[in-house]
Amino acid sequence: MSPENVTAPELDPPLAELLSRAQEAALHSYSPYSGFRVGAALRLATGEIVTGTNVENVSYGLTICAERAALVRAVSEFGPDIRIAAVAVANLNAAASPPCGACRQMLSEFVFPSAPVLFPAADGLRSMPFSAILPLAFDMKLK
Ligand code: THU
Repeated sequence: MSPENVTAPELDPPLAELLSRAQEAALHSYSPYSGFRVGAALRLATGEIVTGTNVENVSYGLTICAERAALVRAVSEFGPDIRIAAVAVANLNAAASPPCGACRQMLSEFVFPSAPVLFPAADGLRSMPFSAILPLAFDMKLK
């Protein structure tokens, strides 16, 4: 999918379902420090959907984002060979929340470059291929 703004009714049904699962996951957010409730949903290549939410800590830096919570859950449940075919992020704060850089880097080892990443942006809901939101992930491959 090309980088563009989309509205929920225009979404492909599988992406709309993923967004709805991300919104539901945000209801479970543990975010007493920021009040920012985020949910993420990953569609695996095998079709399963795995969700996560942000879990904060009074030692603020220990907080885990919704996207990484979903990722560690997906690997824990389905093993290290998972491939991620689509990602949706939502928040309950009517705010922008593209995946942060740390989450992009973590996702990069499991996600198809062409996988759509759907997230609330400043100008509305946006869908971009993963390779467009993280064009140059860190890796240590020798060329
Ligand atoms: N957060 C996420 O869940 N995902 C992101 O990609 C960025 C930020 C969470 C972390 C923290 O609990 C709250 O949003 C405010 O930063």
